[in-house]
Amino acid sequence: MPEDHDSVAHGMQPEDSPELRALYAGFEKYSMKPLWTQLGDLMPMHPKPQAVPYLWRWSDLLPLAEASGDLVPVGRGGERRAIGLANPGLAPHAYCTPTLWAAIQYLGPRETAPEHRHAQNAFRFVVEGEGVWTVVNGDPVRMSRGDLLLTPGWQFHGHHNDRDAPMAWLDGLDIPFSQQMDVGFFEFGSDRVTDYATPDYSRAERLWAYPGLRPLSGLAETVASPLPAYRWELTDRALAEQLLLEDEGVPATWAPGHAAIRFSNPTTGGDVMPTIRCEFHRLREGVATPERRDVGSSVWQCFEGDGVLVLNGTRHKLARGDVFVVPSWITWALEAEGQLDLFHFSDAPVMERLHFMRTETGLT
Ligand SMILES: [Fe+2]
Repeated sequence: MPEDHDSVAHGMQPEDSPELRALYAGFEKYSMKPLWTQLGDLMPMHPKPQAVPYLWRWSDLLPLAEASGDLVPVGRGGERRAIGLANPGLAPHAYCTPTLWAAIQYLGPRETAPEHRHAQNAFRFVVEGEGVWTVVNGDPVRMSRGDLLLTPGWQFHGHHNDRDAPMAWLDGLDIPFSQQMDVGFFEFGSDRVTDYATPDYSRAERLWAYPGLRPLSGLAETVASPLPAYRWELTDRALAEQLLLEDEGVPATWAPGHAAIRFSNPTTGGDVMPTIRCEFHRLREGVATPERRDVGSSVWQCFEGDGVLVLNGTRHKLARGDVFVVPSWITWALEAEGQLDLFHFSDAPVMERLHFMRTETGLT
């Protein structure tokens, strides 16, 4: 099998001539481009992402977010003090991948980020801190370390910090996908959040957060999860139990020493939002995953632990909060030097729904 287009005989490459140059000038004049000059870019033999594998250190991100807290007000217009993690391969856009946006968002003591809603789906993942409530469709949702908070498309949301300390977290959205597909809508809401209550559990959690127990008032399937918060206590316990069951000889882990959960929509059992998949992975000390590559793009955040990321053949020591991006068809593997916990999100629901998904594992 030929490995690329260049290794195939160029049966359609014409001889240069004044007539050919006139033909190409005609194409240019009428905004036409021939396929035969760009086939390798348009239809590669395998994905050749413009996005590059990249890692951001939390120790670099957080001080800059804090500095922006001192210099940049949060409020109507800018809407959020969020700083996008811009993949260098996708400049000038602040895209982390061709489909996914990732940002560090920072809210100072007693600050409010005003309410709005947009077609884009969003989530927040908290790697450290507490004290902020995100108010989703009028329902205050506590944000604490290890929690995954959802803001599905077209739901009003704002944030307020109830404490005297600042808080930073990771935002994930499908902004690049929606921008490239021209599907975005946006609407301003209240300049303040509509409910400043600070309950431990939101009303939607009180209705939905019981595993396997579905309210009869909620039997209709919804495209996004009605559960706005996936609490660390349960995530941690689910992962711990997988490893304990493995110790007892019960099949429970995704791979030996590798516990993993996918956050799911309780009305469908599918992904939490139509465009974004969210998962959490825990590796036992000493476990190394096989090299793997997937169609579609992923972003990971190291939540806790010691380990090494092998990204496209380059080794990176991971520390708490570090964020890395795995573009389409780029190989990655993880090596846990102590227990290693990672949050993961991807565009897999889009790739699967459109039947573009392919995966290769055990490449080494
Ligand atoms: Fe938003």
